[in-house]
Amino acid sequence: MEKNKLDNKNELDVKSNLVLRLFFILSVGFLVFFILLLELNNHPKKISKTTRFDEQEYLNYQEKLRQLESVQAYFTYPDLISIDDTAKRALVRYGKELIMHTSEYLGPNGSVSKLSNGMNCQNCHLDAGTKIWGNNYGAVASTYPKMRARSGKIESIQKRINDCFERSLNGKTLRNDSREMRAMVAYMNFLGTFVKKDSTPEGTGIYKLPYLNRPADPVKGQSIYAARCASCHAANGEGMLALNQKEYTYPPLWGMNSYNSGAGLFRLSRLAGYIKYNMPYGADFLNPQMTDIDSWDVAAFINSQPRPIKDISNDWPDISKKPMDHPFGPYSDGFSEQQHKFGPFEPIEKARKVNK
Ligand code: HEC
Ligand code: HEC
Repeated sequence: MEKNKLDNKNELDVKSNLVLRLFFILSVGFLVFFILLLELNNHPKKISKTTRFDEQEYLNYQEKLRQLESVQAYFTYPDLISIDDTAKRALVRYGKELIMHTSEYLGPNGSVSKLSNGMNCQNCHLDAGTKIWGNNYGAVASTYPKMRARSGKIESIQKRINDCFERSLNGKTLRNDSREMRAMVAYMNFLGTFVKKDSTPEGTGIYKLPYLNRPADPVKGQSIYAARCASCHAANGEGMLALNQKEYTYPPLWGMNSYNSGAGLFRLSRLAGYIKYNMPYGADFLNPQMTDIDSWDVAAFINSQPRPIKDISNDWPDISKKPMDHPFGPYSDGFSEQQHKFGPFEPIEKARKVNK
């Protein structure tokens, strides 16, 4: 009887032991399963986030290649040699020379005249004004004279060139009948030889970057500037003069020798778009070095630094035509100067569309 009880007890012990073990194994199993589930849930998210990003970058790249392959859409121009008339060829060649080395002829120590700030047109219109998305002159011959909202007038090529003299080169205007003006106009007309009247080839001017959904941040931009730009343009933004002291090896980005507050680059979208596909020097459309975000932020930093002020009270006679990133009021919408300068720009654009 006692023995039986004992056996029973042992049996019970064995049974509960088994149940306990089973329970233990099951819970461990569950735990492992759960952890695996969590990991599985977590991992793909982490991975897909980066792959999705890379994939997008890759797709963008492919799209760009396709675009580049349809070269007809892009701006091409003839060889200088193709100009038979020697006098005309010499004039066009001089025009190109003036775009590349403006300051040697017209800068503070210019050999022809002293009317601009030491910068060259080429500092901003890269490769003598021919680079894809490098602010090229591909559409100048085909679209001027044209109505421009900034002046509210029909502008000739000469007037547009003088706009850059007065603003981007913070200087004085060049006479329309001067050999220098005639040469630059001849050069731009020559660049437009293959471009149909009224058309604008792909890649002309400055790229329009997608907007950020927050204001561009000059504080973030400052550290980007230090890391990516200061090595050439100098910590104080004043660039570096060439050995001949007549033009810049690295042009200034702010300070008294830089473009003034009325210049195109003083608009954030223009500066950010220029930076994206051209800077640091050597970058281009197929090999950008900057993210969109960094381009906007570093542009915000640069355009927060001191520079010459231009009286632009006569600009934009119709204020409703001011670009959304024009940093000076008054505006026809209710947005602040601060938001017009740094963004976010999308709300401004949306509000304008509704009002139209
Ligand atoms: C500091 C930079 C800078 C410099 C230097 C500069 N420009 Fe410009 N230029 C611009 C910007 C920005 C635009 C407007 C681009 C845009 O809005 O897409 C522009 C536009 C132009 C246009 C009109 C292009 C078009 O398709 O409508 C012409 C022509 C022009 N510049 C000529 C010159 C000449 C000539 C010089 C030298 C005397 C010069 N620029 C120097 C920045 C500069
Ligand atoms: C390796 C040297 C180098 C670096 C780094 C560099 N740049 Fe430049 N940058 C140049 C040169 C050279 C030019 C003029 C190009 C020419 O004349 O052909 C230029 C021109 C410019 C211009 C137009 C001219 C002007 O002075 O306003 C801007 C704007 C600019 N750079 C911004 C930047 C920004 C922003 C960065 C950093 C993201 C940067 N650059 C990094 C060499 C450099």
